[in-house]
Amino acid sequence: MTVEVRTVDLPDAADEVGERGDRFRRHHELAIRVADARYAPGVLDLRPDERLAAWASSPSERHVRLEAVDGDRLLGAADLWLPMQESTDVLDFGTASDPALDAAEARAVHRTLVAHVLAMAEAQGRIVVMGGSPGLATAAPGSAAIAASTGFGAADPADAEAAPLVEAGFALEQVYRVSLVDLDALPDLPERLAAAHERSAGYRVVAWEGATPAEHRAAVRALHERMSTDAPVGDLALEPEIWSDERLAEFEEQKTRGGRTIRTVAAATPDGELVGYSRLFAGDSDVARQHDTLVVREHRGHGLGMLLKLANLAELATHHPRHRRVTTWNAEENRPMLATNEAVGFAPIAYEAVWQRRQSKEQS
Ligand SMILES: CC(C)(COP(=O)(O)OP(=O)(O)OC[C@H]1O[C@@H](n2cnc3c(N)ncnc32)[C@H](O)[C@@H]1OP(=O)(O)O)[C@@H](O)C(=O)NCCC(=O)NCCS
Repeated sequence: MTVEVRTVDLPDAADEVGERGDRFRRHHELAIRVADARYAPGVLDLRPDERLAAWASSPSERHVRLEAVDGDRLLGAADLWLPMQESTDVLDFGTASDPALDAAEARAVHRTLVAHVLAMAEAQGRIVVMGGSPGLATAAPGSAAIAASTGFGAADPADAEAAPLVEAGFALEQVYRVSLVDLDALPDLPERLAAAHERSAGYRVVAWEGATPAEHRAAVRALHERMSTDAPVGDLALEPEIWSDERLAEFEEQKTRGGRTIRTVAAATPDGELVGYSRLFAGDSDVARQHDTLVVREHRGHGLGMLLKLANLAELATHHPRHRRVTTWNAEENRPMLATNEAVGFAPIAYEAVWQRRQSKEQS
């Protein structure tokens, strides 16, 4: 097997006729098989047009898709994300290989992709490189597993995705727990939501679908900014984000391009100030995906985290009755969020590791 790495030129439309379109559709199929193997079949499904939107560059983030091929055979791929507004010294990437490859072939594909990504990072002056691999809940005593520097979660250094990162000197910074809740297992959701409203007496919930209404845009921009500073990121070198009105519009447009919708709930004080929010995406798949949840510091501990999560699940059940399951990604050290999600009924389905490498001056 030889492994050649090339940049993929994405088509303008998912059904574009010709070579670009055909190549994209092969990548889409690979992405489905990788997600099915990593999580469970159907849990992270996107339609081709939703996938194309997810891989689009925006003014705040540039995306590059690489492919690893042996002649006509697609062996694997990498997604590179280059923040353009802050953290502009960072390159964040993930690699994937065809689940049909054997362990040695997979390792060769990931190793070649990682080497290519590091060369691109160097060429573009991105001195902080973040990479992903499967993770573990804990490092079993006596095992070779590497513990995350947060103290929560681990990764297997022999894993085909992790091994080239370890070899290249990446440090394991953080582990994310991927969890799933099944609304069919929450028949008492209305009663629990009523109890959550009682616990958070004095606050009310505002809900909307799609783009944020004009009267809430300033507050939602501020909540997105808080999300970038308040959600734990361990020692990952990520800078606070600044959300302009254009950035919010662009984010909402990109996330809904391809047919997905965003459902948002926000917690309001009696005088109408929004002090927390929770957003999720619902697309063609029957599994919705949780996005941000945040309660501003001054209003934490009043049950608003729980209220927002339950309220958005209830909104989903009402407006998108076909979406009976929701996935969420949480840092394993984020006890307040995990405590809420566990109490809601989310259960772990996978763990994902985030690694970081700083190019030294000599390397760059
Ligand atoms: C997670 C978050 C939304 C919870 O908001 P909240 O309004 O305080 O939530 P609740 O009052 O419903 O509390 C949720 C649980 O968090 C836990 N908790 C709250 N504050 C905590 C703290 N300082 N330390 C540890 N646990 C805490 C409690 O177990 C609580 O459960 P309880 O009802 O048994 O007390 C809030 O902490 C937050 O905005 N964090 C920063 C953003 C973030 O990390 N978002 C998630 C990214 S995936």
